[in-house]
Amino acid sequence: MNQPRMGGIATINAPAYVKQQKLINWVAEVATLTKPDRIYWCDGSQAEYDRLCSEMVAAGTMKKLNQEKRPNSYLACSDPSDVARVEDRTFICSAKEEDAGPTNNWTDPAEMRNTLHGLFDGCMQGRTMYVVPFSMGPLGSPIAHIGVELSDSPYVAVNMRIMTRMGKAVYDVLGTDGEFVPCVHSVGAPLAAGQKDVAWPCNPTKYIVHYPETREIWSYGSGYGGNALLGKKCFALRIASTMGRDQGWLAEHMLILGVESPAVNGQPGKKHYVAAAFPSACGKTNFAMLIPPVGFEGWKVTTIGDDIAWIKPGADGRLYAINPEAGYFGVAPGTNDKTNHNCMASLRENTIFTNVALTDDGDVWWEGMSSTAPDHLIDWQGKDWTPAIAKETGAKAAHPNARFTVAATQNPVIDAAWDDPAGVPISAFIFGGRRSTTVPLVTEARSWVEGVYMAATMGSETTAAAAGQQGIVRRDPFAMLPFIGYNMSDYFQHWLTLGEKLAAQGKQNSVELPKIFCVNWFRTGADGKFVWPGFGDNMRVLKWMLERLAGKSGGVEHLFGVTPRYADLSWEGLNFSEEQFERITAIDKAAWKAETALHTELFDKLKYHLPKELAEVKLTLEKNLAE
Ligand code: GTP
Ligand code: SPV
Ligand code: MN
Repeated sequence: MNQPRMGGIATINAPAYVKQQKLINWVAEVATLTKPDRIYWCDGSQAEYDRLCSEMVAAGTMKKLNQEKRPNSYLACSDPSDVARVEDRTFICSAKEEDAGPTNNWTDPAEMRNTLHGLFDGCMQGRTMYVVPFSMGPLGSPIAHIGVELSDSPYVAVNMRIMTRMGKAVYDVLGTDGEFVPCVHSVGAPLAAGQKDVAWPCNPTKYIVHYPETREIWSYGSGYGGNALLGKKCFALRIASTMGRDQGWLAEHMLILGVESPAVNGQPGKKHYVAAAFPSACGKTNFAMLIPPVGFEGWKVTTIGDDIAWIKPGADGRLYAINPEAGYFGVAPGTNDKTNHNCMASLRENTIFTNVALTDDGDVWWEGMSSTAPDHLIDWQGKDWTPAIAKETGAKAAHPNARFTVAATQNPVIDAAWDDPAGVPISAFIFGGRRSTTVPLVTEARSWVEGVYMAATMGSETTAAAAGQQGIVRRDPFAMLPFIGYNMSDYFQHWLTLGEKLAAQGKQNSVELPKIFCVNWFRTGADGKFVWPGFGDNMRVLKWMLERLAGKSGGVEHLFGVTPRYADLSWEGLNFSEEQFERITAIDKAAWKAETALHTELFDKLKYHLPKELAEVKLTLEKNLAE
């Protein structure tokens, strides 16, 4: 791996299997700018992964966990200043400001290139630049796209191997002239000759930059999650959403699950696929791996993806979805055998944990993993932690945005079609925010336009997934506020236009448009606790939706859609009273007047190119409220 230094610039030494000169030239160009000591071309092998991990253990970046308790697993703890996505440092640098729109940070691309040129100049000195080739989606699938990330972080290289199809085979697909999205990443911490490295290098100055027209990503200063694993939010959402706008498809912050009803009288059950958009840390991973509760024997829920969906219209008027990722980068706190048994089973081995606590026997722990905490831990910042210390200081053992990285194939309920290049047909979309008040448990939109309105105006309380204050209600249209790569109003229009196109195509093939639902698992009672049990019990709501698709179950229209009555849901195995149901479904007119005022505020902000259909839905809602 150590290569000779040639006049201060590392030799390129591209392996023979890299056949694309344009790619090699780009690597050389970035190396000339960033001046790494070495360039290492990742092949994606297990041996390479193991070696990089051991090197990180030796360097103090990761700890190897107890081999018996958590085989082949590691713990990495980040710098306390680098623990989540940095939305205020994320930029969409389109040629025109209005193409980034009012919800994104925009800087003129020429000016940004200038700034970044200064920051990246020499930023990899003393480090290795890893060349990480990856495919988002099954290798060679017509829906998949290729990226190459150049990063000076070995942590990024090993995480990318889990999160994407990473390695040598990508170059075969690329060939001599295939297209790839160039992604450049640096932690922004060059090392002077002889300077000792720190466990988690990063820089207080951070830039997460996208150039949508040239489909480039440049990320500086952070080694954490979506800031640094550039295949995820930067490529698969921000860049891909602009590709989707131009080419007529969707890149969404959605899980995809399969749900199959029990066989009846020898007849097999009916299987549907649904896609659901919840904002960051609002329950996608959990919903995607849901275990049906008592009373739902024979029902099966299987996972296609837990965070991102690429969805393309088929010639038949249906929408087909793939999960572009190959792994889960999921929230650890709150995950346990009761809330998400399948997830806990996935994490038994071959997992990278980031910012969780270390137990005395070399395993991991986080808040909510068990009801009683261990007597002693090393917390995510390397300090002693005991329940008594926590009580006194409020110190968390794990950071609230602590995460695990694990291959999708370790999920015991992975769907048989999860890797199918053709994708799976979507029967319904679900949108859901985290709201302690106002928004009812579930509402079905009466039309595509009404559904788009609900998604567009969705509000949610902010979480630890992004730096900044938590628990503040903000509008998070389609759970895409931090992830849309272009103008939000144009994105609403894209959804409306796609709906019209699908409706026309579907008519010829007797295919219905997917139904759109809106959910809220998070309403609280007078005691501040969640009223709805959530997790597996969300199956009760999912079942009602499937019955609605089949035209079977009942519901009533309220202000803006259809909602189930108490008797319309199955309650077997759960003690949940009609009063409790009322608490999480009641529509408070005063609260909804305040809510629609927030819709007005949003639409005002988005008035440039805002589709008129959405303003019309709002007028009807306001009229209903005034009655
Ligand atoms: P990102 O990876 O950030 O996009 O998040 P996500 O939407 O996949 O969130 P995830 O499923 O990891 O859940 C985040 C937190 O919400 C965890 O602490 C869960 O325990 C909690 N959570 C998930 N589902 C439910 C639910 O149905 N009810 C309640 N009350 N909490 C839930
Ligand atoms: C999110 O914040 O929505 C995530 C985690 O899924 S990250 O990859 O860090 O963006
Ligand atoms: Mn996410």
